[in-house]
Amino acid sequence: MNQLAENIDWVGYVDWNVRDFHSYDTARGATYNAYLIRDEKTALIDTVKAPFAGNLLRNVAERLDLDKVDYVVCNHSELDHSGALPEVMAALKNATLLCNAKCADTLRQHFDTSSWRIQIVTPDTPVSLGHRSLAFVNIPMVHWPESMVSYMPEEKILFSNDAFGQHLATRVRFDDQWDLSLLLQEAKSYYANIVVPYSRQVLKTLDAASQLDIRMIAPSHGLIWRKNLGEIIAKYSEWASQTYKEKVLILYDSMWQSTERMAEEMLRGAMSVSDTTDVQLMHVRKTTLTRIATELLDTPVVAIGSATLNAEMMPQMAAVLTYIKGLKFRAKDAVAFGSAGWGPGGTEAVAQWFDAVKYHVLAEPVKAKFRPTPEVLNLCHQTGALLAERARLAAGK
Ligand code: FEO
Repeated sequence: MNQLAENIDWVGYVDWNVRDFHSYDTARGATYNAYLIRDEKTALIDTVKAPFAGNLLRNVAERLDLDKVDYVVCNHSELDHSGALPEVMAALKNATLLCNAKCADTLRQHFDTSSWRIQIVTPDTPVSLGHRSLAFVNIPMVHWPESMVSYMPEEKILFSNDAFGQHLATRVRFDDQWDLSLLLQEAKSYYANIVVPYSRQVLKTLDAASQLDIRMIAPSHGLIWRKNLGEIIAKYSEWASQTYKEKVLILYDSMWQSTERMAEEMLRGAMSVSDTTDVQLMHVRKTTLTRIATELLDTPVVAIGSATLNAEMMPQMAAVLTYIKGLKFRAKDAVAFGSAGWGPGGTEAVAQWFDAVKYHVLAEPVKAKFRPTPEVLNLCHQTGALLAERARLAAGK
């Protein structure tokens, strides 16, 4: 069940219990995929996180003598794929590490690589394994500067590393063995939380990939695409272009339900325009950064509201906005709102954040003093309707 093709096997690690992947909420766990290719020469593609090096080596040793591994390919030096390398290179005594020059440099900054045999590869230096071969394509910033993918033309398999991945722990290895809509949802979440800042490079990568004859995409996380390649490539194109849906997202944090009351009235106003508009309300302390980023990916219009705490926005809202800023989403239409008592703070800080990220402000911030009056709630309702109308326009309706 782990076989991609004859003598090409998945030998990675399924991390059922990981729930926090440097702030990514991995609600369904994760996998670190590694692949073993046995031909006249033997190659291990990528490794796993450091604590699971023993599991990886056991999976390899079940298939052949560890001394018979000729190559270890490092497509990407981030530690979820390279952390096991010190243990792996010590155990695979005859292996040469294949990676690009930037990757070798990054690995040297993480590990003592002085005893490793390292062979620098480029797109012009494919490596023959006997009947089959590996070619290398650099995909800078998808997800780090040194990222590359490995392609086996004889089997038409693209070992795509982070690209096309999903955080998902399952007993099965292939896309046709799992629920496709959930799989695409996890792939979208992965894209929105990991890949989105590099969307321009993703579009270039998709161009490069379109030159290759591919029948299988084997990423370094999650399930291997062997049936639904058209769907995932089309989705990547859509996500990389940050195509907007008819959708409004209302994010808020509240202290004594005043900002919450305003958010709810904006929701009602947004829902009043059309039954087809996807309108979502999210209290930022009752959801995750991961879910917020996933929903933001295809949302053209946001309302962001914060109560005022110590003359600032609420702390979790600050965390959310810091996270969103780093992800560099395409600019959205936006409105700030919130309640304050005796002095300004929350709403103003949100409005300043809109300036910093160059969002298009649709209207003056909607503010309440302590409790929203009927007039303020009416304005919230009208603002919600305005947001929905803008969402329809953004979606071409
Ligand atoms: Fe899965 Fe960028 O590491």
